[in-house]
Amino acid sequence: MDHFNRRNGVLHAEDVSIAAIAQAVGTPFYVYSTATLERHAQVLKAALADLPRVHIAFAIKANPNLAVLGVLARQGYGADVVSGGELKRALAAGMKPEDIVFSGVGKTRAELQLGLDEGIGQFNLELEEEGEVLADLAHAQGKSAPAVLRVNPDVDAGTHAKISTGKAENKFGVAIDRAPAIFDRLAQRPGMNLRGVAIHIGSQLKTLAPLEAAYTRVGELVAQLRAAGHTITHVDLGGGLGVPYEPDDQVSSAEDFGAMVKRVTADWDVTLMFEPGRFICGNAGVLVTEVIWVKPAAGHPYVIVDAAMNDLARPALYDAYHAFEAVEPTGEKFVANIAGPVCETGDTFAMGREIDVVKSGDLGVFRTAGAYGATMASTYNSRALVPEVLVSGDRFAVVADRIQPETIMGAERVPEWVR
Ligand code: LLP
Repeated sequence: MDHFNRRNGVLHAEDVSIAAIAQAVGTPFYVYSTATLERHAQVLKAALADLPRVHIAFAIKANPNLAVLGVLARQGYGADVVSGGELKRALAAGMKPEDIVFSGVGKTRAELQLGLDEGIGQFNLELEEEGEVLADLAHAQGKSAPAVLRVNPDVDAGTHAKISTGKAENKFGVAIDRAPAIFDRLAQRPGMNLRGVAIHIGSQLKTLAPLEAAYTRVGELVAQLRAAGHTITHVDLGGGLGVPYEPDDQVSSAEDFGAMVKRVTADWDVTLMFEPGRFICGNAGVLVTEVIWVKPAAGHPYVIVDAAMNDLARPALYDAYHAFEAVEPTGEKFVANIAGPVCETGDTFAMGREIDVVKSGDLGVFRTAGAYGATMASTYNSRALVPEVLVSGDRFAVVADRIQPETIMGAERVPEWVR
C-alpha cells in the first residue's frame, strides 16, 4: 500500500499534487511519501512483534537520503551500512551508534577503525582475515569488537543474477561448512566479541521458500556452534523481501514473513536482526519526468522523457520493470516505447508497453522508485544529479538539491600543461 493517489484525476503524493511539485522544482525529480515510509516501517515491526528480541536496521543503500533516514530513525530503526560514507550518514540522521550494523564485503581498515571509533553496534564479518584485522585494531585500543560471521548458505534466491548473494559462487560470506572452524579461531582472539552469525541471500525475493531454506541452515549452524561451546546471542537474517513492481506481481507479505521467521527460529533464543531495504522504501517513491517528444519509429513510437538511465539505473542494469503513469491521464492508452535522452540504446525504460497516452510537455511517473533509485544516480552525459522531494500530508520539501553540471565541473581541475 502506498500514499500516491489520484484526486480529480491528478496524481498526488499524499495531499500534494505532483504537478504542483513539478512546477516548483522542475523535472526530473524523485518524490517520497513520509506516510508510506512510516507505514512500511510499522507493518514490518508489527509482523515481527511476536519475536522475543528483535533489531531492525534499515539497509540504507536502498535510500540514504538524510530526510528519509530521519523518518525511519523516528520509527526506531537502526541502520545497516556498507561503507564509511553510509556510516556517517546514519549518524548524521540521528541513528544511535549502537543501532548500526556494518556489512560489506570490502570494508577497508580505515572503515573498520571508523566503526570502532564511533562505537557501532555490530560488524558483520565477511572473511576470516577481516576478523583478524578488526580484532587487532580493537585490541590495540583496549576494546572488544561486537561481531557476527556472515555465512554463505549456498541457496538460490531465485532473483536476478546481479542481485543474488547467497550462492556458493557469490562473493559474500564464508562457506557455511567452513564457518565452524573459522568461528573457533576468530572467537578466541583478544579484541573480538564474536557473538553470532549473519546471512543475506539476495534482494527482491518474491517468495519465502529460499529464505526459509537459508534460515534453516543457519539454525543448524547455531546448534553446531553452541555444541562446540560458543555463546551465540545474535543472528542477523539480512534483508531481501520483495515488493510488487508489475501489476500482477505477487510477493509474500510481511505477516507471512514474520510467521515463517517465528516458526523457523522458535528455539534459537537469540536477538534476531533484520536488514530490510526495498521493502521499507520501494513503493514510497516515484520518479517524476516530463515528456520531451513523442517520436514516430519503425515499430512503436518512442516516448522520450527527461529522466534517463543516469537517474534510474534499474531498467538498464537489471531489465527492471517500473510502471509508468501519466500524472494527468486522458483515459486513452497506446502502445509505446519509453526512453531517456542518454546516448545509449540501453537508456530504455519500457519497450512495446501499453501506457497512458502522453504528448510533449505532459508529466509522467515511474512508480516504485523509492529504493535503489536516486542512490544509484550518476551524472552521465553531464546531466544534473536528480533532486529529491519529501512529502508529508499537505507539505513538501526539497530534501536533495539538483546538482548542476557547473557544480560538478567546479570539482574538476585542468593542469597547466593542458591549458
Ligand atoms: N543486507 C545486505 C547485506 C545487503 O547486501 C542488502 C542489499 C540488503 C541487506 C538489503 O536488501 P533489500 O531488503 O533491499 O532487498 N540495486 C539492486 C539491489 C541491490 C541489493 C544489494 N544488497 C536493485 O536495484 O534491485
